[in-house]
Amino acid sequence: MENLKLITLQTAHTTCQMGVTPEGFLLQLYYGPKTDDAMDFLLTAYDRGFEACPDERGTDRTFSMGVQPAVFPVYGNGDFRTPVFNLKDEDGVYGCDLRYVSHEENEGKYGIPGLPAVYAGDSRAHTVDILLKDARTGTEVTLRYGVMYDLDLITRSVHVENKGQGNVYLERVSSASLDLLSGDYDLIHFYGHHGMERITERTHLEHGVFAIGSKRGTSSHQHNPVVILADRAADEEKGSCYGFSFLYSGNFSCEAEVDSMNQTRLVMGMQPEMLSWRLAPGEVFDAPEMMMAYTDQGLTALSHIFHKAIRHHVVRGPHKVGPRPVLINNWEATYFDFDTEKLLSIAREASALGIEMLVMDDGWFGHRNSDNSSLGDWFVNEDKIKGGLKELVRQVNALGMKFGIWFEPEMISPDSELYKAHPDWAIQVQGREMTLCREQYVLDFSRAEVRDYVYDMMKAVLDSANIEYIKWDMNRQITDCGSSALPPDRQKELWHRYVLGVYSVMERLLADYPDILLENCSGGGGRFDPGMLYYSPQIWCSDDTDAIERLKIQHGTSLCYPCSAIGAHVSDCPNHTVGRNVPFATRGRTAMVGTFGYELDITKISQEDRDAVPGQIAEYKKYEELIRLGDQYRIGDIFSDSSWDAWLFASKDKTEAVFVYIQVMGKPNRRSFRVKLRGLDPEKYYYEERRPEVKLSGAALMNCGVDIGGLWGDYQSELMHFISV
Ligand code: DGJ
Repeated sequence: MENLKLITLQTAHTTCQMGVTPEGFLLQLYYGPKTDDAMDFLLTAYDRGFEACPDERGTDRTFSMGVQPAVFPVYGNGDFRTPVFNLKDEDGVYGCDLRYVSHEENEGKYGIPGLPAVYAGDSRAHTVDILLKDARTGTEVTLRYGVMYDLDLITRSVHVENKGQGNVYLERVSSASLDLLSGDYDLIHFYGHHGMERITERTHLEHGVFAIGSKRGTSSHQHNPVVILADRAADEEKGSCYGFSFLYSGNFSCEAEVDSMNQTRLVMGMQPEMLSWRLAPGEVFDAPEMMMAYTDQGLTALSHIFHKAIRHHVVRGPHKVGPRPVLINNWEATYFDFDTEKLLSIAREASALGIEMLVMDDGWFGHRNSDNSSLGDWFVNEDKIKGGLKELVRQVNALGMKFGIWFEPEMISPDSELYKAHPDWAIQVQGREMTLCREQYVLDFSRAEVRDYVYDMMKAVLDSANIEYIKWDMNRQITDCGSSALPPDRQKELWHRYVLGVYSVMERLLADYPDILLENCSGGGGRFDPGMLYYSPQIWCSDDTDAIERLKIQHGTSLCYPCSAIGAHVSDCPNHTVGRNVPFATRGRTAMVGTFGYELDITKISQEDRDAVPGQIAEYKKYEELIRLGDQYRIGDIFSDSSWDAWLFASKDKTEAVFVYIQVMGKPNRRSFRVKLRGLDPEKYYYEERRPEVKLSGAALMNCGVDIGGLWGDYQSELMHFISV
């Protein structure tokens, strides 16, 4: 196409190229393997019939935004596919016509006020800002691109400014959109429910729109804000994959559309149905950030990009790099039935076995003895915590253990002092019965006075004792979304204002307690998203702690998140969720692929299991750094063969690897079952630690596999440690 001004983003192995037409339309020319070519040859211009053409082109019918690949597709200029942006102006008119004005490039990576964002650290990064303008309303949109060169990662956020005279209402501001002119794609996405999060599903995209998302106020158990657009032939080791990972913890949507010309568009960002944001003249709005990555090396390579980005450029604070303490959490041990003596009995036994931190879960405050009261009353129940929190923590510390505590700051129970004093602080629609969920309501965190009040209560607890860890839980989703603090035309802002409010309290917490380890949780993994990882280095992965169920949950999670972010514990048997009995060793090996801990009554488990704890912790510690900092290779695919699973973690220099195999079901005549390793250096020679005399090349181990046929029984596991010669 003639006279395009090119804007090219280059990373180490990828190129993303855009082109500006003489009229100011911003076209997406290319995103793929690195190239120095001008990619405008990919565009075609011909009269396709029944397509709208811009005025400036006069009688030329060969150009229409209805079929051209757009960088930032809007509603209102002839493009009838899924838009990324839409607004309503003061006259009630919908739509806009954003045209290119200018662009600039600056060193470093931009940040976003009040929202999580990738940071460059000591990596090479630059920012490209592309300014677009809607002439009628005066709305200016800056597309902010962060180019993380070595990481092969491109971020995008959208900054909107009302430079006009009247209010505009933002009805849709998605963060990512990608138009691909050709190709046959699957969308890999992660669905689930409570106790079964991030289950991998691969859906072939046909003509029309395939959509996932959340309207629950959080990113949700049901869908995760990370998706992969994969070439149909792509697998773990090869093929084109585009990853989209949204740094946001509220409503989101992802729509993948194949149009009648067989072009594919992916649009992803804040859920548009739940958004209408009034922007007065002079005001600005920032949409949350999307991480985007491309590789032609398959899913493992894409996972490695996201793992690295999250470990080193999203997670912050002192716990980002180092090992996390091995903890014991009393939830599945006691539920609400505990007191100081019970906690200390757990701590005494745990510390003797080498566990490093006691976490006191739900039930220590107000008069909470079940899940039906006291949320919002963040003062210690001294009937249970006899002698007070300070004394409990002192005694735990005296055992050589750290102490952590559970909060659910965003909630309010109808049966609470807080609700008696401030019933209007609960999110609700005036004049309608409120919807209960786990017998609790959600606090209106869009309101500063609510946030301040809750934060001050938390602070009083945190200042009263030596607390080194917080589990921040969130056990219901938002219904009846209304705020008495917002005028009628701003009610739909509440969803986003709520998320901003949550982020601001977490930011305040981290500023006041910079050393604290924050673990997020939402009924397990109901808010397991990249946005949350900006505040907490780890998130409780799922309330389903059964090691066999976790194979699926952790497999899906590992596609998008590093295991250093995944809270995983050894729990009791029969498992409280599914009633399954799994050997203690296998439970440990599954929990090792995460932030390791225990979730059981250590005073009550069998002597045999108790005796195994020090050895299990030693095994975890031996491989912890390799697992936390190494590269993960998924070997088994539990979704296609549910009888076994396996994974390997290799050090960056490939001199060492730990391989874990889980035999879910024993099978007859499996004596010679071989599993091919991945991720080794084919040229290097390795020995397995227990048999140093047998040296095999990485090529042999990967092409021919290792024999794990000796295992007998269901739910058995094998661990092998390979060291290069
Ligand atoms: C849900 C969490 O996922 C559990 O681990 C536990 O903390 C409970 N909430 C407590 O209510």
